[in-house]
Amino acid sequence: MDKFIKRFGRVIAFLLAMVLVFNVSGNVNAAKKKKTVVIYFSATGTTKSVAGKIKKATNGTLIGIKASQPYTDDDLNWSNSNSRVTKEHESASSPAKSKVRPEISNLKQIQKAVKSADIVYIGYSIWWGEAPHIVYTLVESTSLKGKTVVPFSTSLSSGMGNSGSNLKTKAIISKTTKWNKGKGFYGRSSQKTVDKWVKTIK
Ligand SMILES: Cc1cc2nc3c(=O)[nH]c(=O)nc-3n(C[C@H](O)[C@H](O)[C@H](O)COP(=O)(O)O)c2cc1C
Repeated sequence: MDKFIKRFGRVIAFLLAMVLVFNVSGNVNAAKKKKTVVIYFSATGTTKSVAGKIKKATNGTLIGIKASQPYTDDDLNWSNSNSRVTKEHESASSPAKSKVRPEISNLKQIQKAVKSADIVYIGYSIWWGEAPHIVYTLVESTSLKGKTVVPFSTSLSSGMGNSGSNLKTKAIISKTTKWNKGKGFYGRSSQKTVDKWVKTIK
């Protein structure tokens, strides 16, 4: 009988230990779950479409950058030497060196969402091989210290080039910021392509 009680006691102790181990590892996994925010600037909807697919893949929060003065079709006419985008483009040799910083009307909302996130996707359309000036407004006024930053772009043909690393030079970051090289998409892309890429982000 004594022997039986001892053996039974050992089995119970083992089972309790297993419950404890699984509980602890479960909590560790829960703590590891990263919070994602997907911020994007999209004047004509292409980047918005890719951003929506990233949101779906990451289960993150999606926020569009709203220009206080929205870009009209005339503003976006790059072949007009007097258009808003041409003037922005010609204000300096690159957006990083320019003083033009279009105002963002929902900046506070973005800053709040970024503050509580671990991973921050930043999406934009490519304008003359670079991120638009308004995306510089964002990175110069929103702390990305300690965050994993993932730039992405959409363009017709030229790809993202150095636009992501150029943005980094002006961003508020720290040694613990992990700035990914990001990805350039051509057009709206498919959910499958986006899912595959998102899986590679750490
Ligand atoms: C002012 C301006 C400049 C552009 N420059 C480029 C460029 O250098 N290379 C390129 O491939 N596409 C260029 N494009 C096309 C956009 O990058 C492309 O259409 C993008 O997907 C638009 O994104 P959106 O719909 O989110 O605004 C330019 C578009 C505009 C309006």
